[in-house]
This record gives sequence, C-alpha cells and structure tokens, in this order.
Amino acid sequence: MDVFEAIEGRRSVRSFKPDQIDEKDLEKILDAGRLSPSAGNCQPWEFVVIRDKTSKQKLVLAALGQSFVAEAPVVVVVCANIHRSSNRYGRRGAELYCIQDTAAAIQNMLLAAYALGYGTCWVGAFDEEAVARAIKAPPSIRPVGIIPIGKPAEKPRATPRLPLSKIVRENQF
Ligand SMILES: Cc1cc2nc3c(=O)[nH]c(=O)nc-3n(C[C@H](O)[C@H](O)[C@H](O)COP(=O)(O)O)c2cc1C
Repeated sequence: MDVFEAIEGRRSVRSFKPDQIDEKDLEKILDAGRLSPSAGNCQPWEFVVIRDKTSKQKLVLAALGQSFVAEAPVVVVVCANIHRSSNRYGRRGAELYCIQDTAAAIQNMLLAAYALGYGTCWVGAFDEEAVARAIKAPPSIRPVGIIPIGKPAEKPRATPRLPLSKIVRENQF
C-alpha cells in the first residue's frame, strides 16, 4: 500500500474483533512512531503497551467511559517526555514541540496500523491525571493519546473534510 492509499483509506475504528495482534506487526507499528520527525531530533515520545484487562478498564474510565478502548487487544498510550524536549528548547520544547512530535508519532502509527490491516482510533478525550495514574507515569511524562489497535469489526464511512479552497490561502489571510 502506498502512502496516499493509507492516508485516504484510514478511518477511526471504534469496534474491534478479539483477535490478537501479531507481535511483529505491533513492533512495526511502534517502529513507525519511532521513525517520526521531531524538533531537534529530541524524540520525546514514550509508548506504553497495554494488554491486561484491568489496565484497559482504568483507561476506559479515564477516557470518560469510551468502552471501545477496552475492546481492542492492544492499547498504546502515547506519551510526551517533557524533559527530553525542554532540556534543549526550554518552555517551547515543554509546551509545544514535545506535543507536536508525539502527535506526529501517533499519526505515523495510525497509518502503519492501517497498512497492516488493523483499525485504530486516536482517543484524546480523557482525564490526563487518571491516565497518568493508570500507567504510573512520573511527573515529566504527559499522556497525549490513547490508541486502541485491533482487527476492525466495523467499516466506518469516510468523514467529511473541508475543501482545499476553504483552507489554502495564497501568501496571506
Ligand atoms: C486529537 C484527537 C483526539 C481525538 N479524540 C477522540 C476521542 O476521544 N474519541 C473518539 O472516538 N475519537 C477521537 N478522535 C477521532 C476523531 O473523532 C476522528 O479522527 C475524526 O472524526 C475524523 O474521522 P476519521 O479519523 O475516521 O477520519 C480524536 C482525534 C484526534 C486527532
């Protein structure tokens, strides 16, 4: 699958089959995140792989009851390691770059998962402190996204996008 097919075909999947994920596939997905660009190549991302039911249930509660999160055989909590960016870039690293970099890693992982036949959903609506508690994150680690990964049990339709004519401007607003 080429990159354009993946970009066009990926959907948020919110229903999963119980089938396990092939470990090599999971490694490829995590590796796609690892290969993302980052400010100053600081690579501030951390990936917490969750398979056990109790931890998944804690994530569901932290994610305001989004129960499909626990349906997936694997859930990856993608976090930003604030110090890795702030050591070099100070406040801009802590407040902006580490979040941007981690978001880029998430998108790479979503596309890689789709190309390998898996469904994902970027879950960002959660109580950050509750997620941090669930994964025992130290204070310098900020959870950015919860990513359930599994074989899709639904085929969601494409969601609409604004046309380029509404979002592209020449030279200025
Ligand atoms: C930062 C961010 C946070 C999101 N949070 C949630 C969420 O908490 N729950 C959910 O079901 N979907 C969530 N989504 C998925 C969006 O709803 C979805 O990407 C959007 O509707 C476009 O649909 P598509 O992904 O199928 O193209 C989130 C997406 C992003 C990028």
